[in-house]
Amino acid sequence: MNLLQGKTAIITGAARGIGKAIAAEFAQNGANVIITDLNIDDSVQEFVTELEKSGIKAKAYASNAASFEESEKLVEDILKDFERIDILVNNAGITRDNLLMRMTEADWDAVITVNLKSVFNMTKAVQRIMLKQREGSIINMSSVVGIEGNAGQSNYSASKAGMIGFTKSIAQELGSRSIRCNAIAPGFIETEMTAKLPDEVREAWIKDIPLKRAGSPKDVADICIFLASDLSSYVTGQVISVCGGMQL
Ligand code: NAI
Repeated sequence: MNLLQGKTAIITGAARGIGKAIAAEFAQNGANVIITDLNIDDSVQEFVTELEKSGIKAKAYASNAASFEESEKLVEDILKDFERIDILVNNAGITRDNLLMRMTEADWDAVITVNLKSVFNMTKAVQRIMLKQREGSIINMSSVVGIEGNAGQSNYSASKAGMIGFTKSIAQELGSRSIRCNAIAPGFIETEMTAKLPDEVREAWIKDIPLKRAGSPKDVADICIFLASDLSSYVTGQVISVCGGMQL
């Protein structure tokens, strides 16, 4: 399908995991794809070459989404190579899990800065372009724990809940210019981020999921296609859970 033909998308933290799957699905649907991550190594460059085989333009940029200055510079650089920015997926994220009793200030600051401030940085950097175009779709990768909370993840849950508040506010601010802003709340998705979890924690999660399996990065990417495309042209300020029916 070519649901994103002619559109250009930025996906942060797309060197691996969910972001990489989104980049692949976007390219298959005709979008030009911009991948950002902290480091762009040879394997990411190979992935870019692979994406271009579907006839779209793709490029990877090393950029720290948690840095305001780097995000501004990134968007300036992108505009030298691409004419438009139609879609922004704020996907970069980290965990530093611990009970509050053992959580350090550094763990708190790192998670809030990378997961939440990055969304401010990147949205602010692209809003000027989207306002000029009078069109755009911003997708923020939140989490089910941003809705429900989770013991041992107070920093992560707070960052993901913050993203939801930001999403709803930006939807209200920019809606009159046809710029939409929505959030996705994935549940338990198989990536390197969740590979860190002990087997017993993994099994316990899966046992409680009505669909009885972990999600794949593609499960999340498919919802991104919907939110990025004109299929969702009357959807803004919403949070879509992709969690196999999981209830925390
Ligand atoms: P991952 O750890 O496999 O990939 C995250 C990517 O973000 C990595 O390539 C990393 O280098 C990059 N990144 C980290 N900090 C960055 C920064 N400051 N600037 C630019 N890039 C940065 O994680 P995964 O699982 O693919 O997660 C993607 C997003 O989905 C994250 O926001 C995560 O919180 C969220 N999510 C993941 C779930 C899961 O079960 N895997 C569940 C719910 C939400």
